[in-house]
Amino acid sequence: MTDSDLIKLRGLVDLHVHLRDPGQTHKENFFTGTRAALAGGFTTVIDMPNNARPITTKVALDQKIKSAERQIVADTGFYFGSLGDNLEEFVKVSDQVFGLKLYLNVTTGGYLLDKSYLEKIYRAWPMNKPILVHAEADVVGLVMQVVEATGHPTHVCHISSRAELEPVLLAKKSGLPVTGGVTPHHLFLTDTDSQRLGVFGGVKPSLKSASEQAFLWEHLDDIDVVESDHAPHTSQEKEDGSAPYGMPGLETTLPMLLGAVRDGRLELPDIERLCGAGPRKILGLPEEDDTYILVEQADFTISGSKLMTKAKWTPFEGMTAGGRVRKVVIRGTTAFENGEVVAKPGSGRLLRPVT
Ligand code: NCD
Ligand code: ZN
Ligand code: ZN
Repeated sequence: MTDSDLIKLRGLVDLHVHLRDPGQTHKENFFTGTRAALAGGFTTVIDMPNNARPITTKVALDQKIKSAERQIVADTGFYFGSLGDNLEEFVKVSDQVFGLKLYLNVTTGGYLLDKSYLEKIYRAWPMNKPILVHAEADVVGLVMQVVEATGHPTHVCHISSRAELEPVLLAKKSGLPVTGGVTPHHLFLTDTDSQRLGVFGGVKPSLKSASEQAFLWEHLDDIDVVESDHAPHTSQEKEDGSAPYGMPGLETTLPMLLGAVRDGRLELPDIERLCGAGPRKILGLPEEDDTYILVEQADFTISGSKLMTKAKWTPFEGMTAGGRVRKVVIRGTTAFENGEVVAKPGSGRLLRPVT
């Protein structure tokens, strides 16, 4: 196969990944995580703050950035976190991060925000940077109220159901600065798959019924982003009784979306919007010159053992994807080719917001 048989897309952006570094590098680190990004066609990833030691101080953020610097092979940016007790740190870090992430439901990391702090945090975070929320059906309405009161740009992560999406659609309709993301696991797996997957299907928000999933697909035009929510855990951890929530996703997102293109449920420009223009707009992230991926549109069977992520398992095991990345070029330099990452550790760029 020559390059001319392949489809050229701009490098993809994943605004929601957990690379676990520092603190849980047995699950993933900045090297393995950004290798997985390249293998999945993502030239840019933005890393969440729910590390073993959460990223709620400038000191912790600086340590994380230092760890990333030596390892990354894709461009990498960061978010800050808050439980409401670190508002004085916001001004110190706001030029280093793309946004603030708040967890309003129980999820991995045990990093649950007391709702009574929400508005105070909203008012303290700089207006020119988004707040991203993990807000399931019970709290997304409250978040929309706070957005209305503050006017603060807000991204609702991993929308999984009608009850989560409807308040977001309403808020958008009334002109509030709200965006929404969906994950490939909520688009392509349901609670029927949960039974088959057992602990490996455990994720927050949980996998939902086929009719909830259909609602997401019906409203995809009003969704801004597909985010992998790459949340690697070892298979041993998944099986040993603690079963942390989350599943790896960086290397299966584009292949699964290309399967939807094959099946006539999506078109390539949808992928460019949901994994490119959409996240870039939220992050205020300009395009990089000469940064692109070459994609082969051909069926293949997804296999966890072939993935670059340390996790080496996938909830999409055995499913037939519609294509994969053959080459990744970042700023004119080949970073991934013939199934191999050729970029050197540290060759990725540490991203800072433009404003
Ligand atoms: C994520 C993780 O493992 O960090 N888990 C998950 O189930 N999605 C946390 C999160 O995004 O909620
Ligand atoms: Zn979450
Ligand atoms: Zn997440």
